[in-house]
Amino acid sequence: MSKIQTETQSVTYRCPSNIALVKYWGKKEGGVQLPANPSISWTLNDLFAETTVFASPKKEENQKVEFFLDGKPKPSFEPKIHTFLQRISSIVPVVSQWDLRIESKNTFPHGAGIASSAAGFGALALCLVDLEGVLQPSSPEFYQKVSICARLGSGSACRSMFEGAGIWGELNSIPGSSDEYAISFPFEIHSRLKNWKDAVLIVDDGEKKVSSTQGHDLLKTHAYANARFEQANKNLTELSEVLQNGNVERFVELVESEALQLHAMMMSSIPYYLLIRPNTLAIIEKIWAKREETQWEMAFTLDAGANVHLLYNSQQEDDVMNFINAELLPYCKNQLYLCSAIGGGPQKLN
Ligand code: PMV
Repeated sequence: MSKIQTETQSVTYRCPSNIALVKYWGKKEGGVQLPANPSISWTLNDLFAETTVFASPKKEENQKVEFFLDGKPKPSFEPKIHTFLQRISSIVPVVSQWDLRIESKNTFPHGAGIASSAAGFGALALCLVDLEGVLQPSSPEFYQKVSICARLGSGSACRSMFEGAGIWGELNSIPGSSDEYAISFPFEIHSRLKNWKDAVLIVDDGEKKVSSTQGHDLLKTHAYANARFEQANKNLTELSEVLQNGNVERFVELVESEALQLHAMMMSSIPYYLLIRPNTLAIIEKIWAKREETQWEMAFTLDAGANVHLLYNSQQEDDVMNFINAELLPYCKNQLYLCSAIGGGPQKLN
């Protein structure tokens, strides 16, 4: 039972973004926002959303929802939030009795091509489940419920609840895995793959021509869909072993192959489309050449966009930063790149 509430209550959470190593691309038929294949991501601790929710008892029949980004009203986001509230209303029933004022900000520029929806819906779900007051914040049951809710906002958001790596989607080789919510990677990660970082090289900060929602949908009629889902299952089983045994060479191969497969699926759907840009390819080729020359432990990956995530072992941080500044910046829009440690997790701020 949730608490009877007569006054405005508020809570603030910080929720990190994440970058998938094995990609979620395509939804299962039936159900809401269930993945066609399992995925795993690293949590990007320094690229987060910070959200405060003010909840007060509803004054009129229609629920009032106001959304502010960086202090400015963003009515264009409100329909998405209404859909989200509708979807979670059977899980957190009390939300439909509240008027909500949601104030959010990100550490990264909105529209920089970083998965802002993962951090944003993650933070909102954390606030709402906390305000409901049924589960002890930070308990495993709390995070499970938050993960279910976050998934209903944006699939990949459900993986942002965990320190280190989050796995979403049922897979025999991963005990406790589920299509409904993500879990923390259940095994010890090898020291060679523990202290990595991500430098996100911003190639394009514009609106995507094809949204992720449209992209997922195209898998329904995609000629290679089943082969892709099977491959993702195999890749995740193997990546799980690699994270435990520290085989960095194979880690690099699996992660880069996943990134290219994601974009290959976009290029081979009907209608086909391209999200990578010439500078995306230029950066990838520079990374390959540098790795060949130096044997540094680094890999690129891509989200559904043109930006390149350069994952690297933090022991090589100085070298990698020099490399970025000397060789990759010319390909970045406005010379912009964003850095994050891997790890951390959500935080309650008040
Ligand atoms: O969470 P969505 O619906 O925005 O889908 C995101 C899918 C990818 O970012 C491309 C891959 C992933 O697993 O995060």
